[in-house]
Amino acid sequence: MSKRLETLRRVLSQHGQAHLLAFADRLDARALGALLDELDAIDFDALDALIDRYVRHDTPVTVPDDLEPAPYYPHDPAGTYNAASYAARGAEIIRAGKVAAFTVAGGQGTRLGWNGPKGTFPATVVTGKPLFRVFAEQIAAAGKTYGVTIPWYIMTSPANDADTRRFFEDNNCFGLSRRNIFMFPQGTMPSIDAATGRLLLAAPGALALNPDGHGGALRALRASGALADMGARGIEHISYFQVDNPLVRIVDPLFIGLHVGAPDSSGEMSSKMVAKAGPDEKVGVFARVDGRTAVIEYSDLPPALAAARNPDGRLTFNAGSIAIHLIGVDFVERMTSDLTLPFHRALKKVPYVDERGELVEPAAANAVKLEMFIFDAIPFASSSIVYETGRVEEFAPIKNASGTDSVATSHQLQSDRAANWLESAGVTVARTADGRAAAKIEISPLTALAPADLRVADLPERIDAGAEVLL
Ligand code: UD1
Repeated sequence: MSKRLETLRRVLSQHGQAHLLAFADRLDARALGALLDELDAIDFDALDALIDRYVRHDTPVTVPDDLEPAPYYPHDPAGTYNAASYAARGAEIIRAGKVAAFTVAGGQGTRLGWNGPKGTFPATVVTGKPLFRVFAEQIAAAGKTYGVTIPWYIMTSPANDADTRRFFEDNNCFGLSRRNIFMFPQGTMPSIDAATGRLLLAAPGALALNPDGHGGALRALRASGALADMGARGIEHISYFQVDNPLVRIVDPLFIGLHVGAPDSSGEMSSKMVAKAGPDEKVGVFARVDGRTAVIEYSDLPPALAAARNPDGRLTFNAGSIAIHLIGVDFVERMTSDLTLPFHRALKKVPYVDERGELVEPAAANAVKLEMFIFDAIPFASSSIVYETGRVEEFAPIKNASGTDSVATSHQLQSDRAANWLESAGVTVARTADGRAAAKIEISPLTALAPADLRVADLPERIDAGAEVLL
């Protein structure tokens, strides 16, 4: 142990991080071993470069002046492409068992004020089904429709992995077979003191670590063995989605058909978008940078570009990213063998142990967290397409306790979508003056994954204002 300790002390001194072993003498053998393991796992040369770039210098993200919006396949094809034939192609791929579902669920529900993994949050309008159950039922229903097993990969974080696993156990995996659920925690990055570039300790024997962002999904897929598992199952395409959106259509034949078959798609990484609700909506936008598709995060898009409009009045950068992608398994292999995603810096409050060994709860942001974003992989694809889906059809995220993207807005959108589906099947649904559903309506994924699955004989003739309806 002492030799290992001495070697590490030397390495840390060379990198200005000797303080990390300041309390080594106070730790018992086990605690010291754990700390040395954490430190050994760090490539300090690489970390120095990151600290120089993102902590000592705040290299701003620059957006090229000639930024152009990315082209996309419109929701209403109106003769521009053959949606039926792409949907048929996608259905073939699903039936052949080549598609897996993948949820990124490593974030904490902090903004939501929910004390637990976000996927355990009660999300639906009438029954309050948790997000994980909504996805599980979709996966089960799609598996039945296509006569195939759709394996489900779930990325957690070290902070919520145990709670997530317990929730699945307590709910008997929502009826899905355990063998087809593959859960793994994402990787972490050390949190760095913004003033000094020194790594922070969360306790005398432990580094302060933060999840490495949803972009960490790529390396975690490989490190966890999930990628190998996909290979063994013959999975070729990963349906990627965030844990916060109960309306996501996980298994979408048209999107899959475009991803594998569109002339301008390399089948490496494709994305769904919705038209932005307004210039200030906090969603990334799809653009073309150096001839490649890319997402510019909302915080990086200059306000003038965010507000720019075309002659027809539409926002120029109108394609909002809803964080739904199809990702080729081969692409993940390539991205994780010889390429890495860039990092983004976030200045946050991180509690730390000071030089006297006492825990400090900072009053202001004190630390840089480094995170990767999944959409930074898009420009690595040789040709990446964007497909427009309907906002009400597919985007009702629950991110905040109130206001935009809250439980209330999500519930309304869930009812609005259900109303649209029911009306298309001939049901009369009461609407408010501004055209929203005037009743609470929940359609279980086990009842219908799309309007065409609704069996008219099982439906009410009308739904009145104020009603609560579960189908
Ligand atoms: C995100 C996107 C934004 C997009 C919007 C759509 C980013 C930086 N921005 O914003 O472009 O328009 O969603 O809803 O992603 N997660 C992990 N591990 C992490 C961090 C996050 O698994 O280390 C997961 C979360 O559990 C969640 C998702 O990633 O499912 C999104 O993270 P969040 O930080 O909430 O992103 P938003 O700011 O909402």
